[in-house]
Amino acid sequence: MTEQIKVLFSNSQKIKENINLQHVLPSGNDKAGILTTLDGEIIFIVSIDNYTYELDEIRMLAGSISRELGKHRIKTGKVDPNELIRTFAYINKPDLIAAFTEGWKLGNYSFSKYKTSEFRRKVELEFNDIIGIKSFIEKGKLRANATAFARDLVNETPEALNPATFSAYLEKEFNNSNVDVKLLDEAEMSEMHGVMAVSKGSKHPAAFIELTYCGDQTKPLMVFVGKGVTFDTGGVSLKVRRNISGMKMDMAGAAAVAGAVKLLAAMQAQVNVVGFIPAVENILGENSYLPGNIITYKNNLSVEIGNTDAEGRLVLADGLLRANEIGAEYVVDIATLTSSVRQALGNQMAGVFGDKKLSRKLEEIGNKNGDFVWPLPLINKYKKSLKSDYADIGNISSDDAPGSIIAALFLRHFVKDVNKWLHIDMAGVKESKEAGYYSNSASGYGARLLADYAEYVSNHER
Ligand code: BES
Ligand code: ZN
Ligand code: ZN
Repeated sequence: MTEQIKVLFSNSQKIKENINLQHVLPSGNDKAGILTTLDGEIIFIVSIDNYTYELDEIRMLAGSISRELGKHRIKTGKVDPNELIRTFAYINKPDLIAAFTEGWKLGNYSFSKYKTSEFRRKVELEFNDIIGIKSFIEKGKLRANATAFARDLVNETPEALNPATFSAYLEKEFNNSNVDVKLLDEAEMSEMHGVMAVSKGSKHPAAFIELTYCGDQTKPLMVFVGKGVTFDTGGVSLKVRRNISGMKMDMAGAAAVAGAVKLLAAMQAQVNVVGFIPAVENILGENSYLPGNIITYKNNLSVEIGNTDAEGRLVLADGLLRANEIGAEYVVDIATLTSSVRQALGNQMAGVFGDKKLSRKLEEIGNKNGDFVWPLPLINKYKKSLKSDYADIGNISSDDAPGSIIAALFLRHFVKDVNKWLHIDMAGVKESKEAGYYSNSASGYGARLLADYAEYVSNHER
């Protein structure tokens, strides 16, 4: 097969002029396009069927092209940026080029380290004329890299990536970079009451990892807290579904945090962020924490365990309290927290709770960058569902109150300034099916979202 091919859009003059090519164009299917010949040269024609593509549809389109070319084992796809810009003239050029590059790179993503044979090929994107667009290409690449990094972490096996090894993955990634990786010491860990309780059954010691990137000290300090449950069996409240291998992905929130910090640092963004990753394994064993146990947190709030499978909120609570301690002004937590959020919103968008204005802003940011979110309500009337007879609150509702809202209300007990807090429940979007720039693997959700949110807040909110 040929090494290099030219990519043409179906509306390009060359195609329009050529009757023979017009009738080979696929229509109304999900194929990115077709390989054919023109003047003795092999070309790939991308069928564009309308001109109302949103930015994320540009990523999806580019991802489909690169994957399709990869299946044909082509090494390089050459695109004329001017044709791209002409075709999507209604999108601003920097966003268009960055999105196309990002989608192209991610379309070729695969997690193949455990496959004994892998046929897919990475296809280089070559713009034949890069004058004036180099920085946009670079931006697209950085965004794809950060997302791919998050995907890699989430796809890794629960044995390889466990609470004890998680920090090594991050240290390797951030070695020689402008990101500082730190682990809390034993004394500090003993104060992390949620983390220590959830982790009791595991042979892997818990960790609390801090990633610091300060591009500008004068910017408001923002803390990201990412749920880092490297495997969730449910613990004593054991999960009983047939295949729970997807619970290795219960650290997708932590991966989003790591990916966001990577992206911000790579862009040398003028932000001041710290990422917290409480890393634990929630497993069943003779030492596991039990329903009926009571945890008393540093803020003196006591929590009775009703169900050991509602573990995410317990470890996030420690992170939220520590965010207050270090003087965070803005706080975002992100977690694969509840199965209910998937029932509510499906697998295309996460739910966001917290300050209304900031939630709407996050929705806007997600619409542009592809990490879609939908604002959900913190309904005070449901607070009573968290009542416990033996402690200040319980970790699950005592009735049939909606799961995602209950979890968010639980977390709110640990937040200092609720006007500057957002909670993202990404349980529905942690993994994807092959389409556009997504593959059958972790989605890498949240890295771009958190990074763009940090930039927004740093530039506009003060
Ligand atoms: N990690 C799960 C949530 C989850 C479920 C993520 C499916 C991704 C896919 C979480 O720890 C959990 O088990 N939540 C329970 C809470 C319940 C016991 C109150 C849930 O949502 O069922
Ligand atoms: Zn659970
Ligand atoms: Zn969980």
